[in-house]
Amino acid sequence: MREQFLQVKNEALSLIIDADERKELEEIKIQFLGKKGKFTVLLKTISKLPLNVRPQLGVLANEVKTTIEEAFARRALELSRGAEEGDGAWFDVTLPGKKPKLGHLHPQTLVLDEIIDIFKSLGYQIADGPEIESDHYNFEMLNFPKDHPARDTQQTLNLKNLPDKEGQPLILRTHGSNMQGRIMEKVIPPCRVIYPGKVYRYEQTDASHGFEFWQVEGLALDKNITLTDLFGTFEYVLKQFFGQHTQVRFAAHNFPFTEPSTEVYVTCAVCRGKGCSFCKKSGWVEIAGAGMIHPNVLKAAGIDSKIWQGFAFGFGMSRMVTLKYQMDDLRLLTNPDLRILEQF
Ligand code: DAH
Repeated sequence: MREQFLQVKNEALSLIIDADERKELEEIKIQFLGKKGKFTVLLKTISKLPLNVRPQLGVLANEVKTTIEEAFARRALELSRGAEEGDGAWFDVTLPGKKPKLGHLHPQTLVLDEIIDIFKSLGYQIADGPEIESDHYNFEMLNFPKDHPARDTQQTLNLKNLPDKEGQPLILRTHGSNMQGRIMEKVIPPCRVIYPGKVYRYEQTDASHGFEFWQVEGLALDKNITLTDLFGTFEYVLKQFFGQHTQVRFAAHNFPFTEPSTEVYVTCAVCRGKGCSFCKKSGWVEIAGAGMIHPNVLKAAGIDSKIWQGFAFGFGMSRMVTLKYQMDDLRLLTNPDLRILEQF
């Protein structure tokens, strides 16, 4: 019985809301509240039920009736106002307007724009390239032979169902260096280019690791480029970005595609080098990998390494964002919660 009352109520309400004309509304009213209306008929059956259930059902019936009557009154008012307006839509012009929420740029975009501006001021061009990549550009061209152990450090995500022309599975690029070969094949040196973008690795996500993150990679090709050009460029870019007080440190490293190779550290922007939980008490944060482009890589792209030299680099851009904004968790960058994003 309860269910029947609720069903009648719901049916009536949906018809009332959909009614477009007064006449239609009147007909619905008769259909439910008229002498032989659905509600009236149901109401009458209460008197045939046992005494102990009647009071409860009586209360429910009253509620249902009031709700239906109110809905009728509301819709009737809407329709009559609509008729006055002439187009069926009524609104109160005296009500204060709703202020739309203004959006703003994501911290990641803010940082990217800033990095691009700094590199542009040094004469760099900006390039973009594919995130779905072949083994050739991600590894082979960069002097990573098939069985090279350095491939293990790249935690590659293979796209098994997406083979390239030779039937080899394509991959999600593990670094922005995939663009190095693509660019060097096409350009006529000298040139300076950066190529920001997302990269992917098969990583367990935690506060400082993600399976997708942003890098800003780049290269400079010219005659007589040396390691000191690389050092000077890094010093300039990082001081512009983090502030003149920032110190930069280079540590020897090994990448198959650069020789010599280096890892680049900056003084922690959170504690200014004093040591905190963000920099694991060391005062330094690793920010990039870089080095002089390996002659094998130049050769693979058809560039004569006796005439042209260059350096290449890859900044961990997501790391730069978290450091700049002193976020202690990389995952905040992909969290869509407005309470977080509104703070930037
Ligand atoms: N691709 C390296 C990485 O993701 C970073 C890197 C190191 C890029 C040296 C370079 C480079 O272009 O020369 O760890």
